[in-house]
Amino acid sequence: MRFAKRLSYIDISGIRKMFELAKAEGVINLALGEPDFGIPPSAKQAIISGLAQDFTHYTPNKGIEELRSAIAEKLRKENGIASSGEDIIVTSGASEALHLAILALIEPGDEVLVPNPGFVSYSPLVRLAGGVPVSYEVAESNAFEPRVEEIEEKLTKRTKLIIVNSPSNPTGAVFSRRTVKEIAKLAESEGLALLSDEVYEKIIYEGEHHSFARYYPETITVNGFSKSYAMTGLRLGYVHAPSEAIEEMLKIHQYIQASTVSLSQLAALAALEQGEEHVKEMVTRFKQRRDLIMKELTGLPGVTCLSPRGAFYAFPNFSTYGSSQELAMELLRQAKVVVTPGTAFGSAGEGYLRFSFATSEENIIEGMRRIKHYLEARQ
Ligand SMILES: Cc1ncc(COP(=O)(O)O)c(C=O)c1O
Repeated sequence: MRFAKRLSYIDISGIRKMFELAKAEGVINLALGEPDFGIPPSAKQAIISGLAQDFTHYTPNKGIEELRSAIAEKLRKENGIASSGEDIIVTSGASEALHLAILALIEPGDEVLVPNPGFVSYSPLVRLAGGVPVSYEVAESNAFEPRVEEIEEKLTKRTKLIIVNSPSNPTGAVFSRRTVKEIAKLAESEGLALLSDEVYEKIIYEGEHHSFARYYPETITVNGFSKSYAMTGLRLGYVHAPSEAIEEMLKIHQYIQASTVSLSQLAALAALEQGEEHVKEMVTRFKQRRDLIMKELTGLPGVTCLSPRGAFYAFPNFSTYGSSQELAMELLRQAKVVVTPGTAFGSAGEGYLRFSFATSEENIIEGMRRIKHYLEARQ
């Protein structure tokens, strides 16, 4: 078979490679990108009842009306975003929502600004659409927030879209209101599209979440249920945007997906209506683990780490130990602990490792003990 040339620009995600290696017995996995909690009990019940009532058919392309109305109400109340529910498409995870937005906007040769280090999907999705990812740095020296001046310097005639992500994967940064407002203002004054990935919005320990669309209504907002409600396997997300953008994205969604899973939509509705206690409990546990892993990380020789303010990842600086990729492989071989090399998220991740604390306290303690032992032996 002869495969499409666009695939030659794409490599299998560094995270997936680590996942394969993590399967060996006795290995502690600090690379997971999903909560280790169950879904809210109300969501579980909604699936059971839906199944008993044969709610197993196609739904409207955009998603069931009750769910879109509930999302619209949430956007109005929690995010300050005006929505009627008609300006939303319920998607198969935030992943599909990102894909729809990029496919709807990007033509071959268009440039898209992406965070570096940033979530692994942004650049490959831009490449699939024929676009050119142009990275802007989110540096530790700036609390892993973007520098608006750098974004401005990188704009060219070909720039079409800026992708932003707060709270951020892999750094745990939560952008200040000022950063959000400045980027929103820049996109508006340059007439650029802004794609804001807000999947970690509910997982915040310090600071507050600010939605870009509150300051620039043309923003395309992507969100989902995977992280906030531990529903990764149910594959449910959504995209909100001005109606004309939703109409264009719907053309794609209709042909590649038709509609997303009916039972997952019921689960999402129940999660929105009755799941907040569950989210709070989960975030409290994540915060305890964040504090635990920070204590362990700052006790490692030659390592510094900014405390993550959101998401469930720490992004410590291991640059005194050389290449991230080699160090991650050594930790796997010698210490039997899987972490993700910072370079899986872009060139500016060199010198860093991503530690997920979406795992038990016991795993964190044992994983960190092994790493400390390995590093001390190397001194
Ligand atoms: C920043 C970010 N955006 C989007 C996603 C995709 O989430 P979903 O499971 O909703 O497709 C992830 C998953 O790791 C993520 O970290």
